[in-house]
Amino acid sequence: TLTADDAALLFTWYDRHHRDLPWRVSPPMARQGVVADPYHVWLSEVMLQQTTVQAVKAYFDKFLRLWPTVEDLAAADTDDVMKAWAGLGYYARARNLKKCAEVVARGHGGRFPDTEEGLKALPGVGAYTAAAIAAIAFNRRSAVLDGNVERVISRLYAIETPLPAAKTEMRQRVSRLTPADRPGDFAQAMMDLGATICTPKRPTCALCPFRMKCMALSSAVPETFPIKAAK
Ligand code: ADE
Repeated sequence: TLTADDAALLFTWYDRHHRDLPWRVSPPMARQGVVADPYHVWLSEVMLQQTTVQAVKAYFDKFLRLWPTVEDLAAADTDDVMKAWAGLGYYARARNLKKCAEVVARGHGGRFPDTEEGLKALPGVGAYTAAAIAAIAFNRRSAVLDGNVERVISRLYAIETPLPAAKTEMRQRVSRLTPADRPGDFAQAMMDLGATICTPKRPTCALCPFRMKCMALSSAVPETFPIKAAK
């Protein structure tokens, strides 16, 4: 089975094949422990809930043009924010976005909390988003589990328990696999692997950094994972 050392295989692949996404650019004047701009990471993660990476890119750029900092977004007119959001859907997310910006700007001096717990207390920031920001922006060793990562993990360990019951086991597996070094890159590498190699249909296992380790590949048909509970 895989150990934290196997993260090295993933990093070799990621360093060569990662997707260039606008929110991954590191901030020019990083404060201690910040590896990507928390405002950018937060904005992208909220937009990426139920929306594809391809669709989000243009919206992300537009928001940063209109509101370059979290203070700018906090001071924005709510109607303007809703208008800029139009097309992304799930309008409650836009309303929470504005509320969250106000809390960060006025309650936290413009700085996002740097722990999962602190982040989870913000409006519209759930367990997934808190873990993602903690890992990607603050390089915390939090377990980031989205649909892509669930698929990768379920195949790596050939997890027979169906979703959603399998999530507890998946989170433990991700947690153990996440290295102390570069946990934010690890989370994003797992997402990229799920999006580009370990795809729902016809995964390209021959190109996968985990091909020698994947239990689904060696014993079954990878596509059968993750197993989902019958409705
Ligand atoms: N989906 C959600 N967050 C993502 C990220 N940071 N990188 C790639 N895909 C994602």
